[in-house]
Amino acid sequence: MTSPTRDSASTPGPDSATAPDPAAGPTPPPGCPAHSGPAPAGERLESLHGPEFAADPAATYARLREHGHIAPVELSPGVPVSLVTSYQTALDILRGPETYSKDARHWQALADGTIPLDNPVVPMMMYRPNALCSDGEAHHRLRSAISDTLDRLDIHALRRYVERSADFLIDLFGPKGEADLLKEYSARLPLLVFNQLFGCPPELSDKLVRALSALFDITEDSEQANVLLAETLFELIALKRATPGPDMTSWLIAHPSELTDEELVHQIVVLVGAGTQPQQNLICNGLLLLLSDERFAGALAGGTMLIEDALNEVLWKDPPLANFCIHYPRHDVTVDGHKLPKGEPVVISLAAANNDPYLLSNRRGNRAHLAWSAGPHTCPAKDPAQVIAAVAIEKLLDRLPDLELA
Ligand code: HEM
Repeated sequence: MTSPTRDSASTPGPDSATAPDPAAGPTPPPGCPAHSGPAPAGERLESLHGPEFAADPAATYARLREHGHIAPVELSPGVPVSLVTSYQTALDILRGPETYSKDARHWQALADGTIPLDNPVVPMMMYRPNALCSDGEAHHRLRSAISDTLDRLDIHALRRYVERSADFLIDLFGPKGEADLLKEYSARLPLLVFNQLFGCPPELSDKLVRALSALFDITEDSEQANVLLAETLFELIALKRATPGPDMTSWLIAHPSELTDEELVHQIVVLVGAGTQPQQNLICNGLLLLLSDERFAGALAGGTMLIEDALNEVLWKDPPLANFCIHYPRHDVTVDGHKLPKGEPVVISLAAANNDPYLLSNRRGNRAHLAWSAGPHTCPAKDPAQVIAAVAIEKLLDRLPDLELA
């Protein structure tokens, strides 16, 4: 286990972080050549942008591990962050809201203008009044509205929505005999499903899908897409306030936390935003594994167990959100000899943590991966997300049993 110490003495770190934990693995002996120790202050060891990282992220994580459980990296040009590569350290930070805030208004370099507002990572990382960026009571209020709403989802209805959306897309590319399954299936399917989950009537659904597609497409103007999305959601909320239905928008409106229209828009955006991109990655990487690995050849005959096994393997080895779960230390803190400055982003590498060499290698049936995160912000939608991915894959393999990678 990690041992954070508050640099400015008085307040101790979280209790859970003080006892040694064998799960963290052996501590390297001093001077061990395989462990170079923490990087010198201010030095960034690697960048998480550019073709070298993209070509082989695992090699970058392996090099970073030589410096310990956390390493200073550059997230995008001019954006320094600390990257956590150890499973146990990741778990401690995710479960340590007393020490680490999720609120990007603590981001020192953004607040003092060192990082300009037009830096490309700012829209993804900046504060918004939603569950993801909130702490404490405010988080509890927003999160309970979201999780109570998700709990009302009927799994059979969800399956129907996914099957209907899958059929619609397969009908479009099936007759062509070839398809780009990322663009034409995995990326579009979650948008169609969300449209139904939020009870979007036909007159608004085109607009919603258009706004969402533009938002996730870097070639589109994201500011315009945001305006279109907010406009569409305000219209949807007005409609559902007047005529509620059996859908997530109406359930969010009716929740006892009495969200305002603006709060509703922000929570719907985070639901859709948090759900779309990782959902697409899970479907696509699950399909890739099933179609390329002969251990899963039986799944082409519709083996549900095999699809679940393949998804579990993807969630361990290649989690849909590889580097995410950004936290801001509330004060300077030292973890395993690494100084985490107050207000400098700490990013959890879910991909590196899941593949921490100290973890046991047998992961079949073991669901202790961090793909859904952990602690107070753990994904509230992991059950529906698994259903969406599994049904999307099952349906495709059922309808096109002779599917092959090109
Ligand atoms: C394969 C699909 C998915 C994966 C891998 C995934 C993963 C995650 C992770 C890692 C977090 C923590 C983020 C952080 O702390 O910064 C998270 C949070 C969240 N996810 Fe998911 N997610 C998926 C699908 C979905 C779907 C479909 C929805 C909505 C229907 C959703 C809604 C949310 C929300 C609202 C949060 C914020 C929770 C909070 O801050 O309390 N996710 N998800």
